Amino acid sequence: MEWFKVVAFVVCVLPTAHCASDAIVWCYHLPSCNDKTWPTISPQYCNGSRQSPINIVSASATPNNNLTKFTFVKYDDTSAMTSIENTGDTVKVTFKSGVKISGGDLSEQYDSLQFHLHWGNGSSVPGSEHTVDGKRYPMELHIVNSKSSYNGNTSLAVKDSTGLAALGFFIEVREAAHEMI
Ligand SMILES: *[C@@H]1O[C@H](CO)[C@@H](O)[C@H](O)[C@H]1NC(C)=O
Ligand SMILES: *[C@@H]1O[C@H](CO)[C@@H](O)[C@H](O)[C@H]1NC(C)=O
Ligand SMILES: *[C@@H]1O[C@H](CO)[C@@H](O)[C@H](O)[C@H]1NC(C)=O
Ligand SMILES: *[C@@H]1O[C@H](CO)[C@@H](O)[C@H](O)[C@H]1NC(C)=O
Ligand SMILES: [Zn+2]
Repeated sequence: MEWFKVVAFVVCVLPTAHCASDAIVWCYHLPSCNDKTWPTISPQYCNGSRQSPINIVSASATPNNNLTKFTFVKYDDTSAMTSIENTGDTVKVTFKSGVKISGGDLSEQYDSLQFHLHWGNGSSVPGSEHTVDGKRYPMELHIVNSKSSYNGNTSLAVKDSTGLAALGFFIEVREAAHEMI
């Protein structure tokens, strides 16, 4: 699925603003602090070729043949998730060690540390961070990974511009009959 690859790649190479620095306050919807002002508030992490979030203009997107399939290790392990936390901003689910990803043009194996969600409230709070042709999805899943060679030392990983890799997935709402299992 070419389109998923484009999304995963874009999010992979861009550090998301909230994991780049603890010193920068998480904000989306304030007049002076929102996704439009991130490039000014934090140019080191959010401006120019490192900007995040971005709007993907599908007519200008080109395939990148370096992007191979991802390999997900222990994603089928039912004990992989060790905690679920309400951080005040999101729900964060932490993985035990040994959950990993590789492929997708990543330079090495990465340990999956946690996943969290960005969602809207159906009106003024928008939902996904990234957009496609201006469309904002109701929710975005981020799986945060750190280079395995750092052995879970995130202070080392944040000093490396490719030390952290976030996989981003857009989540769409669909009208469908509820199925009983
Ligand atoms: C952001 O990047 C653009 C393009 O490189 C540059 O013109 C602008 O001055 C930068 N803004 C900040 C706040 O660094
Ligand atoms: C693909 O990989 C080659 C070799 O590492 C590199 O020169 C090229 O820039 C890459 N292409 C993209 C689109 O990243
Ligand atoms: C969504 O959130 C905004 C900002 O907090 C609030 O003004 C608005 O009333 C909320 N809408 C709904 C439907 O909850
Ligand atoms: C991370 O690595 C740095 C540099 O090697 C070291 O000083 C620090 O104690 C490590 N942190 C943890 C939590 O292991
Ligand atoms: Zn995120």
